[in-house]
Order: sequence, then structure tokens, then C-alpha cells
Amino acid sequence: MDRPIRMALTKGRLEKDTVGLLEKLGFDCTAVREKGRKLILPVPDANLEVVLAKANDVITYVEHGVCDMGVVGKDTIMEMDGRFYELVDLGFGRCKFALATKKGYDFYGGYGIKTIATKYPNVSRHFFEKKGMDTEIIKIEGSVELAPLLELADGIVDIVETGTTLKENGLEVIEDVAPISARLIVNMVSMKLRHAEIEHFVELIEKNL
Ligand code: PRP
Repeated sequence: MDRPIRMALTKGRLEKDTVGLLEKLGFDCTAVREKGRKLILPVPDANLEVVLAKANDVITYVEHGVCDMGVVGKDTIMEMDGRFYELVDLGFGRCKFALATKKGYDFYGGYGIKTIATKYPNVSRHFFEKKGMDTEIIKIEGSVELAPLLELADGIVDIVETGTTLKENGLEVIEDVAPISARLIVNMVSMKLRHAEIEHFVELIEKNL
């Protein structure tokens, strides 16, 4: 048998849903569930190996072909771009990119260049370029909601899931930017070399979504 198909999986939020999906497909994910601090885990009956990584690194490993497939959010795909196939919308990890400001703030009013704080500078740049709007974009690493509160930025482009973080910090969505969900991505060479296995796996997933 060939080496197992390696699947890079985004640690954290998407991990549980992916394991749930694999189990729904009939695969035994005990090793992943009882992983401790291990980062590479077998799913033996599927000839699959799960590699737990940070979202950006999932894309890096898949692009370089050291992982054949990956499960990653559309947010990371939009921000990083890259050369791989995006095959399936897995339907979980649903949230959205949105532009938010302090409640009642007139973002589109006035003439000055607006400042945007975000973890996703490329997504933000594209969004405002499409509008033909000049903005200054400041990269923030987390808790982006702080930036307008501290008067660093006029608005943020960030992930909104339940909306609780915005609400509890006196911010509100003024425009949706893009919907987000988890995607199955596949390395371009693996797609050729392990076509039958990957196709079979994708079909199984699509039947069980
Ligand atoms: C994300 C996002 C928002 C929050 C949205 O942050 O950046 O802050 O979740 O969720 P909600 O709409 O359900 O409140 P995350 O928890 O990943 O932390 P970080 O911002 O520190 O990276």
C-alpha cells in the first residue's frame, strides 16, 4: 500500500467538526481524539494521516505537497491565496468577514482616508479596492475589536461568528465582506498521482455532508 494520504487539519475550531465528519464516514478517529500533544495521528482504516497545524501552515504544507489535502477556512484561503485545488465546501466553520465600526459611526461620511485594522490585510485591501476607496490598513494579530475602541482605526475587517464580541464591545457590522466556511483543499500533484484515492474520499465526503 502507498504511504497514507496526509491531511493537514486546522487545529482548534475546525478540528472537532472534521473529526466528526471523518467518523460519519465510518473512520476510527480514536488516535486523533486521544492525541495528547502529538501532531501527526493515524486514521488507520482510511489509510489517512492527520497533521494538526495552524491555518496558514495548512496551506503551506499542502502547497509544498508534504500534505496531500488540507481542511482550512475560506478566510485563510482568501488571505493567503496560493496554488492548490479547493474542492469541497465542507459546510461547517460558518461565519463571515465583515466591516465593523463603533456603533453609530458614520464610516462612509467625511473626506479623510479611513484607517482599517485587521488580521487580514489582503482581504481588506481587495474589498476597498473594489469599491475604489483609498484606505490605510494596519495589521493586528488578534482581538482586532480593540483598534476602534483605542482610536487606532475607524473600522475593522474581521471574522464575525455569533456577533457577541462586537456587541459586547459596542461595535456593529456596517457591511458584510464575504461568507466563510471550511474547505477541503488538495495539492495539485497529489491530485494527479493519488487521483483515485482522493476522488473516492471526496465522493464519500460529498455524500455525507
Ligand atoms: C474571532 C474574531 C472575533 C471573534 C468573533 O477571534 O476575530 O474576534 O472570533 O466571534 P463572535 O462573533 O462569535 O464573537 P478569535 O476568537 O479567533 O480570537 P483573536 O481575535 O484573538 O484571534
